[in-house]
Amino acid sequence: MPPAQTLEVNQPRLLYRSGGLRCEGARWRGRPVFVKTRETHSPCTVRRFWQEGEIASRLCHPLVVPLLARTATQLVYDWVEGRSLRELVDQGPLPPDEATSVTWGVLEALAYLHVQGVTHHDLKPENVMLDGGRAQAGAVRLVDFGMSHLRELPDGSKSLRMGTPQFMAPEQFAGARGDPRSDLYSVGALLFDCLAGEPPHKDALGWLSGQPQPALQLPGPAALSTFFGRTLQRDPERRTAQICELQACLNQARGMLDLPRLSPRSPQTWAAPL
Ligand SMILES: Nc1ncnc2c1ncn2[C@@H]1O[C@H](COP(=O)(O)OP(=O)(O)O)[C@@H](O)[C@H]1O
Ligand SMILES: [Mg+2]
Repeated sequence: MPPAQTLEVNQPRLLYRSGGLRCEGARWRGRPVFVKTRETHSPCTVRRFWQEGEIASRLCHPLVVPLLARTATQLVYDWVEGRSLRELVDQGPLPPDEATSVTWGVLEALAYLHVQGVTHHDLKPENVMLDGGRAQAGAVRLVDFGMSHLRELPDGSKSLRMGTPQFMAPEQFAGARGDPRSDLYSVGALLFDCLAGEPPHKDALGWLSGQPQPALQLPGPAALSTFFGRTLQRDPERRTAQICELQACLNQARGMLDLPRLSPRSPQTWAAPL
């Protein structure tokens, strides 16, 4: 169990409060940090908060925000100086070079998570921070493990449809947890959002609950249609299960667009967990 004693952080400034959690920027041990504080004793929030800390504390990858410390009511993360992908896309759709590069970075982070037995379950532009605000693979910092699932932990949220409808895979909406292919659906929705300025289905809940929807008008260059075809399928069996295959799709599209190929980070650059 994480220690009960509260950590003292300096110069806290409130970013926002929601769902019994308070998010602040602050300083801790001389460095800027992002602090999530649990302000409620609601059993569901207590459990999810604990689970977020449990999962984040096991992760160590350059494209995943590091958890520096935790108590029963606080999660102290490294501060990412930059902006979220949401803030960037809100200014207008991204060019294919930037959109595919950021998506590549998200896939790199996901490949690591999935090897660790973690599914993120809430991939969306709000949860992708960009270090220095740069729309590049190496600037990606994946945040927010509040909905994540770790294979070896019991799932306390079986009856809850947790996630964000516009980015959630249909089987996740139906209650399935822990399937890496659900995250790959969300990556397809994320790339769609980057290129179109909005996520795939206008009536997201209708789509998730199986109601017929108009055919998707894919955004961006036709070269990316294979990527969307392998991610945005209702049936997870019809999606690819291989992240490297999706990366190959991105590189193939980049080649057709005369953009330089991207290359995977070697696993040796993943340091050991704290
Ligand atoms: N380490 C960080 N550094 C700077 N900003 C962050 C960091 N982590 C999250 N944020 C910002 O705060 C927002 C909320 O954090 P998040 O962990 O997603 O909490 P929530 O569970 O409330 O969605 C994110 O969407 C992002 O914009
Ligand atoms: Mg979030």
